[in-house]
Amino acid sequence: MKYRITGKEREWAQQTWEKLEGKIAAQNERLGSKMPYIPVNGRYEDMGEEHLTWWTNSFWSGILWQAYHATGKQAYADNAAEAEARLDRALEEYVGLDHDIGFMWLHTAVADYRLTGNEQSRLRGIRAASVLASRFQPAGNYFRAWNHGEDSVAIIDCLMNLPILYWASGVTGDSAWKKLAMAHADMALQEILRPDGSSNHIVAFDRETGEVTKKPGGQGYGEGSAWTRGQAWAIYGMALSYKHTGKQEYLDASKRTAHYFLANAALADYDVVIDFRAPVEPVYYDNTAAACAACGLLELSEHVPELEKPLYVKSAVRLLQRLTERFCNWDPEEDGITTKGSARYDRASDREVPIIYGDYFLVEGILRLLEKDFLIW
Ligand code: GLY
Repeated sequence: MKYRITGKEREWAQQTWEKLEGKIAAQNERLGSKMPYIPVNGRYEDMGEEHLTWWTNSFWSGILWQAYHATGKQAYADNAAEAEARLDRALEEYVGLDHDIGFMWLHTAVADYRLTGNEQSRLRGIRAASVLASRFQPAGNYFRAWNHGEDSVAIIDCLMNLPILYWASGVTGDSAWKKLAMAHADMALQEILRPDGSSNHIVAFDRETGEVTKKPGGQGYGEGSAWTRGQAWAIYGMALSYKHTGKQEYLDASKRTAHYFLANAALADYDVVIDFRAPVEPVYYDNTAAACAACGLLELSEHVPELEKPLYVKSAVRLLQRLTERFCNWDPEEDGITTKGSARYDRASDREVPIIYGDYFLVEGILRLLEKDFLIW
């Protein structure tokens, strides 16, 4: 058994998966290859029409590939493959692509290749990895985030894009992509993570010299705060860089960030807020951070000695149990599963709403516990 959970926990995970699959099946009928983000009046719209390069456009495909892997139902694979083909125009047009290429093509082309061996998908994945590689900034050693603003910035989130580079090195036998990914992860260890186990969201660089100029607050409460999804990206992202490289510092960083996250989450009975350093009132939740952290903790548990595993596995179970007890909409007639995801602290319109990536990480976390998942990252 990969994760030592109790019989009762397994029963809960199995029942949760059945409810999740009920939602996924209903949404699959309604959505097909649409690219959902946040539902409006209980219905997803197609972000792919409005904004093909939007970073969340492939999480629905990730859910579908996980569901296909767990159930063998072809309808899930068919819609995911159609969404993958829709993304070709984004690669051809190039404009609008940014550091989030990993999120977009790991959940589509790379997942497809891993599960079906489709050669066209392999080539799509390699092209996508090449575009990400081209964003590397040698002055500062980082992948530039976004395409706007005068600053050249790197963000903690980008750790989750690095696996497409590790994958590309693996399938081509060319270590160049992996070296760039490690240079970025090393920069994150130095400049984005803090010694106490918390993480900044953003670090800004002088583009010419590579010197760090500031560390603004980003999507969290403010400068010096601890945006919880960023903390979750750090736990999971560092664990993944360890998985793909074996570099001990990445595993140690994943553990430090996990301990910081869990100390704070435990204070609030594992109901995760948007920022651990925001004022106590008002309380704003972010289910996406809880679900992503749970997956990161499960990944981390796979790389530590036996005696260390229970902390991470039991904590992941608690996070997912709170999420499914308090914050899920199981009505198959309505789109969206997790109910209180938050894109950022300072924008009411996408605070405490269902967000597709919260659902993706919930699905991955539950399937991990049942050992029915496959590795997207
Ligand atoms: N990667 C963007 C976010 O976490 O909101």
